[in-house]
Amino acid sequence: MMTLASARTMPPFNFNSASNMSRSFSFFYFFILSFFLVSCDSGDIIEKTTAKEENGHTVKLTASVTGMTDLTDKYTLSLATFKAGDSYATTVYNVPATANDNGEVNIIMPNVGDDVSTVELTITNRLRQRVITLASISMSDYVSATDTIRLNIGTVDVGMFNVIQHNVFNQSCIQCHGGNGGGGAAGLNLTEGQARTNLVDVASTRKEGMFRIVSGNASQSLLHQILAEGGEEVLHYNHTEVLSSQFKNDVAAVRTFIDDWINKLKIEN
Ligand code: HEC
Repeated sequence: MMTLASARTMPPFNFNSASNMSRSFSFFYFFILSFFLVSCDSGDIIEKTTAKEENGHTVKLTASVTGMTDLTDKYTLSLATFKAGDSYATTVYNVPATANDNGEVNIIMPNVGDDVSTVELTITNRLRQRVITLASISMSDYVSATDTIRLNIGTVDVGMFNVIQHNVFNQSCIQCHGGNGGGGAAGLNLTEGQARTNLVDVASTRKEGMFRIVSGNASQSLLHQILAEGGEEVLHYNHTEVLSSQFKNDVAAVRTFIDDWINKLKIEN
C-alpha cells in the first residue's frame, strides 16, 4: 500500500504541465486547469491520498527513459489517464524533460477513479492529446486491486524516430515491407536498422521524381503524401487506411508527429 512518506519523497513528481503550454492555448488551458483545480487540487494531493484511499487506485510508473531531448518542445512524455474513447487526457503527469539519459523515472499517480479507462505512458501534444502510447494499463483489470498498481516498463527510448519505428513501422508496415530476402513491397525495407536508410533522401521506386522522404520537408515527401488524408490514390495500395486503422481517432496526431520528425531532419552533405 502506498504510504504518505513514500508519496512525498518520490522524485520526480510534477503535477501539472502549465509551464509548457503556449500562450495561444491559454484560454483553452484555463478551462482545463479550472477543471483540475476543482477535481484534484494539486496542493492537496498528499492529504487526499491518505484521507480517501477508497477514492481510487494509485498507479506507480517506473521506467528508464532515453531520448528525451529529441522530443521537441511540442511533445511531452506523460503518465496520463484517459476516459473510454477519449483522445484527450483527463490527468497528465509529465515526465520531466530533465530526466537524464538512462535516469530512472518514478511517477506516482494517486486517486485514479472509476471513470478512468486507461492509464498510459504516452507522448502527448500541447493540447494533452494522445499522440503515441508506449505502454498502457486497462483499469478494468484492476477493479478489485487494493495495492499500488505498478507499471514497470524497463528501458524506453522516446527519440522520435525510434518511437515511429517501434510503434508504427513494426506494428503496421513490416508485414509487407519486411526483410524476407528482398526489400519487401516496392523494394522498401522498413525493419529495424533498415528503415531510416531506406527512406531518408532515397528516390521512390514508384513515383518518378519523388523521394520517399525529403529531409526537412514533409509535404514534399512521398511518405507524408501516402499517409495523409486524401492520399488513398497516390499509390496502387491505400496506405492512408493502414495508418487510420491502427490509430483510429488519434491518426491526425500521429501524422503530425511523423511530419515533425521529417521536418526536423537535416539535409546531409
Ligand atoms: C499490405 C501491404 C502493405 C502495407 C501494410 C504497407 N505497405 Fe507500403 N507499399 C505496399 C505496396 C504494394 C507498395 C507499392 C505500391 C505501388 O506500386 O503503387 C508500397 C509502397 C510504399 C512506399 C513507396 C515506396 C517507393 O519507393 O515509392 C512507401 C514509402 C511505403 N509503402 C510506406 C509504408 C509504410 C510507412 C507503411 C506502414 C504505415 C506501409 N507502407 C504499409 C504495401 C504495403
